[in-house]
Amino acid sequence: MNTVLNLADLEALAEQSLDAATFAYYAGGANDEVTLRENEAAWSRHRLRPRVMVDVSEVDASTTLLGTPVATPVGVAPAALNGLAHPDGEVATAGEAARAGVLFTTSTLSSRSMEDLAGLDGPRWFQLYTHHDRAITADLVARAAATGHRALVVTADRPVFGRREREIRAGFRWPSALGYGNFAPYADEHDMAAITAGLHGSLLTWEELDWLRGLTDLPLVLKGVLTGEDAAAACDHGVAGVWVSNHGGRQLDRTPATVDVLTEVVDAVAGRAEVYLDGGVRRGTDVMVALALGARAVFVGRPWLFALATGGREGLAHALALLHAEVEAAMALLGAPSVAHVRRAHLR
Ligand code: FNR
Ligand code: LAC
Repeated sequence: MNTVLNLADLEALAEQSLDAATFAYYAGGANDEVTLRENEAAWSRHRLRPRVMVDVSEVDASTTLLGTPVATPVGVAPAALNGLAHPDGEVATAGEAARAGVLFTTSTLSSRSMEDLAGLDGPRWFQLYTHHDRAITADLVARAAATGHRALVVTADRPVFGRREREIRAGFRWPSALGYGNFAPYADEHDMAAITAGLHGSLLTWEELDWLRGLTDLPLVLKGVLTGEDAAAACDHGVAGVWVSNHGGRQLDRTPATVDVLTEVVDAVAGRAEVYLDGGVRRGTDVMVALALGARAVFVGRPWLFALATGGREGLAHALALLHAEVEAAMALLGAPSVAHVRRAHLR
């Protein structure tokens, strides 16, 4: 891990340590991977305007997300199947995030169950794939609340799966339903093939979101928003957070880089909800650009998986610390002693 100086260094190392099919699943995007490449490339088109003569002897990157205190405005995006990167799966990922005070988002499709994470005292949200059978959705939501998750992140950009050709070429196969810890309680009463088949979000509509609102006291975050229209509608339907994402370029290819639609979303939300973003965030300076454009926080997906695969828990801790140090350095160099100081005027 000594040779890992930044998050981008991790991908090549992970390719060596993971089997080809898992690496293709983690790293790949949909179709021509235009959006996958664009997500990362777009950040470097933005230019910062640092202010000098500011006391930055104490830089504090901490903030709150829906009222939950976190050490940094950078979280762990939900990702399925961390067990393919590490034998402890999400227990390792969430455990290291908790130690660093970093917000962890548990995927519905995690290898380990949400109950396995319940003892960790870090900030945690649950990412929900709604099920065609509402009783199963309702049970997942109740369990998420009971296992210490403080918000529900409803992923909206997966009505069907994107076609990821790298995965197909490498022979990646999804595990059967029991490969996902969260479904174990349903094994006695349900046909497990139907459990996974029913998780496609093709029935997810605003009406379903309204139903979810009535079901739980947890605040709702809508993930996968790329337009001002949908952001405004999400606010009309009472969400507490709007999460700008194109699923890391894994769903609809040819959508824009997330940073390029952030302003449209922030303007449409107009302060009615917190705005988050993921997609190609790899540098502390990327985080500054997102905050300056009005995001409350950003999330990172693949690099944490690559770090876990490469260096285990220690590798992940190293990666979390690297980005945290970059965020603090960027804040100091920008002349922003706290995240609240980062403003639009810090961008050219
Ligand atoms: C994901 N993502 C994802 N999103 C979600 O809502 N539920 C999920 O289960 C998953 N699973 C998943 C698996 C893997 C292997 C990856 C790479 C991604 C999408 C994820 O939350 C996030 O939107 C992107 O990964 C962000 O882009 P970067 O940081 O990977 O570029
Ligand atoms: C993925 C799904 C699980 O991107 O969200 O692989």
